[in-house]
Amino acid sequence: MAGESSEPIVVAIDGPSGVGKSVAAERLARTLGFHFAQSGAMYRAVGWLVELHDVSPRDGNRIAALVAETAIDIALRPGQSAVCVHGREISEELAGEAVGKAASAVATLPVVRQTVTAQLRRLRCQGNLVMEGRDIGTVVFPDADVKFFLDASLDVRAWRRWQEMRQAGHGDTLEEVRQAIAERDEQDRTRTLAPLVPAADAHVIDTADFSIDDVVQTMVSGTQHNILRGNG
Ligand code: C5P
Repeated sequence: MAGESSEPIVVAIDGPSGVGKSVAAERLARTLGFHFAQSGAMYRAVGWLVELHDVSPRDGNRIAALVAETAIDIALRPGQSAVCVHGREISEELAGEAVGKAASAVATLPVVRQTVTAQLRRLRCQGNLVMEGRDIGTVVFPDADVKFFLDASLDVRAWRRWQEMRQAGHGDTLEEVRQAIAERDEQDRTRTLAPLVPAADAHVIDTADFSIDDVVQTMVSGTQHNILRGNG
């Protein structure tokens, strides 16, 4: 399937925080043998930098300067995406809700969105790609070959995220996690630029009642179906 067309294939996966996009997207990419990119990691890297330099997330001018002078890249590796700042991988520093919150704040700024979107688009040159985020099917790759939008209620997403965090050794309560996800969702859905919405041509999957295996299988079948149809 992959490689039948001369243009690399792009699969776009969007959805709100805690819906399980990263795990599902990574497994889809492994199954298809595609590259995998987490676009949120780029926004997280900017949020992390802003906190590191003690810049207000509303100070557009200073953030623009910071973004211009810092080399932030996604390195595509088989089944993985790693974020590097000036060549050093910082993926571990980007985990956690505090960086997610900073990312969501800086992601409202036009200068940040333009820079990150341009970098994300360049990743397509490296080959067939699964990319997950909030605006992949609407803004980054509106011409993606296949688009999925994963969804689930706030309660389901908070519970899943809380369990992941507990396994990773974080001590946040379920209510704290729920609150943080709700705030981030609100900001991501209501911002003026590239708000979180399903693309008109996305396959919407409510993940609440499905196992991760089922979600991945649905996406594998959907991708194969769409691409075979596109090539036929
Ligand atoms: O996906 P993740 O939770 O790592 O994303 C962190 C934040 O980055 C999101 O809450 C959102 O504000 C922003 N983001 C975005 N557009 C994307 C991916 C992430 O605005 N494509």
